[in-house]
Amino acid sequence: MSGVDDLERGLVSAVAAAADEATLEQLRVSALGKKGSISELLKTLGNMSPEERKEKGPQFNTLRDRVSEAIAERKTALQEQALNARLASERVDVTLPVRPEPLGTIHPVSQVLDEITAIFADIGFSVAEGPDVEFDDYNFTKLNIPPDHPARQMHDTFYVSPQKDGSRHVLRTHTSPVQVRTMLSQQPPVRIISPGRAYRVDSDATHSPMFHQIEGLVIDEMTNLGHLKWVLEEFCKAFFEVEKVELRARPSFFPFTEPSVEWDLRCDRSVPGKITFGHGNDWLELAGSGMVHPKVLSMCGIDPEKYQGYAFGGGIDRLAMLKYGIPDIRPFFESDIRWLRHFGFAPLDIPTLDGGLSR
Ligand code: PHE
Repeated sequence: MSGVDDLERGLVSAVAAAADEATLEQLRVSALGKKGSISELLKTLGNMSPEERKEKGPQFNTLRDRVSEAIAERKTALQEQALNARLASERVDVTLPVRPEPLGTIHPVSQVLDEITAIFADIGFSVAEGPDVEFDDYNFTKLNIPPDHPARQMHDTFYVSPQKDGSRHVLRTHTSPVQVRTMLSQQPPVRIISPGRAYRVDSDATHSPMFHQIEGLVIDEMTNLGHLKWVLEEFCKAFFEVEKVELRARPSFFPFTEPSVEWDLRCDRSVPGKITFGHGNDWLELAGSGMVHPKVLSMCGIDPEKYQGYAFGGGIDRLAMLKYGIPDIRPFFESDIRWLRHFGFAPLDIPTLDGGLSR
């Protein structure tokens, strides 16, 4: 009798002292496993006389039940303890203020893209997109740039290895192929802008081999260059956040527009390192443009007898540099985290016309 009591006391106190689930499992096996102390004890019942068995049987069973129960209780307690420790170590104080830094900053080019999109969306333009790797046909031929045009030459264009049929893709040299894609996929009225990347073999303080442009295209039955002038003026006022701007038109040449016009914006550069708009004696080149060439319209499936419209295109990186006082284009694409922290924008301040474009 006292042997069974001792065994129980010893096991129950060992169970209470088990510091983790692995130790507890070892104890369980040593007592209740196939060769465990209690199992061995139970086996001895077989060799006992019926009277002895009647006496010992219930004792042994009680011992087994009590030890099993102690183990189960200890197991629950240990699990609860582990859970509480985890909850304490992973506790989050949801009332703490947001730390803005881990979100990073918005690149000035992305910021300017969002600003431009917000302005043109407000005037009624939608956004169209095209791929950076473009068909030679869309980048050049359908824009009325014949095969011997200088813009096609290797020194300007990044060519991709020839396809099996001998045709070559290019890294688009401007965003104008999006005009082609838009006209091929939709009939007038068309009113789109298309901001995106363009590529040319060119690199210095003001040119990067990858740069950003924005394209605009409006086609209907009566749109003319006067409409374009108004759109560009409204854009400049909103973008540079000034009351008044002045645009100057210069005759120009692009194979895909006729007539072609380049637009300059009046500005003042008399204070070194500073540029202001709406007054002054300097001019800033803003965009190339023109009335879409009838040949381009018909190559893109639009009837030039019925429809007409303008297209314009210009660089975005330079607009970002001017607006935010960034002197050199090269760090734009170097991914230097210090530069991004300095010139970047708060990620949750999305530019809107009524909420403020750049604040
Ligand atoms: N694609 C021209 C360029 O890259 C700009 C342009 C676009 C001119 C649309 C006229 C019309 O310089």
